[in-house]
Amino acid sequence: MTGLRDWKQWFAAYDDPASPLASRLRVVREGIRRALDEAAPGPIRILYLCAGEGRDVIPEVAAHPRRADVTARLVEFDPAIADVARRAAAEAGVADAFDVVTGDAADPANFADFVPAEVLLLCGIFGNVSEADIANTVARAAGLTARGGTVIWTRHRREPNLVPSVHEWFAEAGFETLWESDPELPEAIYVAGHRQRRDPAPGTGADKLFTFIK
Ligand SMILES: C[S@@+](CC[C@H](N)C(=O)[O-])C[C@H]1O[C@@H](n2cnc3c(N)ncnc32)[C@H](O)[C@@H]1O
Repeated sequence: MTGLRDWKQWFAAYDDPASPLASRLRVVREGIRRALDEAAPGPIRILYLCAGEGRDVIPEVAAHPRRADVTARLVEFDPAIADVARRAAAEAGVADAFDVVTGDAADPANFADFVPAEVLLLCGIFGNVSEADIANTVARAAGLTARGGTVIWTRHRREPNLVPSVHEWFAEAGFETLWESDPELPEAIYVAGHRQRRDPAPGTGADKLFTFIK
């Protein structure tokens, strides 16, 4: 892949507690905590596509009583950003549970051996890919998520506001809505959690899920 945006500066907004991104982080972290709280007994696989620095999932797993049950696969294309995630997992004492893959998160070859996951994180993707790719990724999530598993996703609510469509696509794929972020938050932010009520669709498919266009 060539011509990709350099995302390193994007993460700096997390350090300003008043930023929309910091608000989003609080909601995503709460959602991950809830997914772990409600996970069925047994192993918990967390698959995070386009994981960035893992600022949400790493501290939540490290602090959670189910920590020993968790194995996480983080897929991040940028090697320097993936290294930040690896270091963060090591500093949090969970390096053994976190496999950070430097690669294309849209390519099922990077996670086909790790699904169905009990928690699927799709944060920071849907604002950067085409509408068709969002629909495709949601449909394919049905093959990536275990029955009873949780998916958490983010997208802004600026026009065209695709949030209602994304909800319809999740419903068609067998997911029910568990929670949504506070509508009073800035429109740069929207986060939702869904639960899969069906068995995972067979096979992950070999086609790519999405292409970043921003
Ligand atoms: C908007 S950021 C979101 C990061 C993280 N999920 C978060 O919410 O903090 C998008 C991330 O996706 C990464 N990325 C972009 N295209 C990717 C791809 N095809 N495969 C894996 N990572 C990708 C970027 O390097 C960047 O770290």
